[in-house]
Amino acid sequence: MNKTWIRRLKPEDVDTVAALNTLAFGGAEEAAIVRRLHADHDSLLSLVAHRHDEMVGHIEFFRILIGGKPSAVGLGPMSVLPELHGRGIGSSLVRMGLLVMAGRGESIVFVLGHPEFYPKFGFSAELAKPFKAPWSGPAFMANAINPGAPVEGELTYPAAFG
Ligand SMILES: CC(C)(COP(=O)(O)OP(=O)(O)OC[C@H]1O[C@@H](n2cnc3c(N)ncnc32)[C@H](O)[C@@H]1OP(=O)(O)O)[C@@H](O)C(=O)NCCC(=O)NCCS
Repeated sequence: MNKTWIRRLKPEDVDTVAALNTLAFGGAEEAAIVRRLHADHDSLLSLVAHRHDEMVGHIEFFRILIGGKPSAVGLGPMSVLPELHGRGIGSSLVRMGLLVMAGRGESIVFVLGHPEFYPKFGFSAELAKPFKAPWSGPAFMANAINPGAPVEGELTYPAAFG
């Protein structure tokens, strides 16, 4: 049976998650970001996907300040084991993470990622445009997951993002 299941990350998973990110991204930059987010206690939610005993996917959510207030969430990095791409694991991680964030009352989530991948979950570059951030363009997207989300402001990212 090829059952995939999703659970919260445990502190002892950090090395496995770092290895998965390095493999999926083909470099260690994202793994370092994940390590730093956790070391700085800036991670809001970290989910991992499993198949049997193997960790096959990971997604990170972290706090973003708008105008100095903790009123937004960032998504990323996220990764899936390369040989399992295209089987819905990444989408399941995004959907579950967004549900948890909405349930916690968060109103807006930002991502810097593939413009072809994130719109199907409600992310839009238009929505992100009025926000002042270290990035811009079609890869910078926002998703209003609850009513009353901020529509503009200056974003501050955690130190992990430099
Ligand atoms: C992006 C990623 C997490 C998706 O995971 P996945 O389990 O393959 O995702 P799913 O199977 O749920 O969905 C596959 C979709 O992702 C799209 N996708 C995957 N990689 C992509 C890329 N580099 N650019 C654009 N789209 C991409 C596929 O086209 C597919 O689209 P479709 O559903 O419309 O056919 C995975 O490809 C990955 O780990 N990539 C390397 C690391 C990375 O780029 N992380 C994301 C940074 S924003």
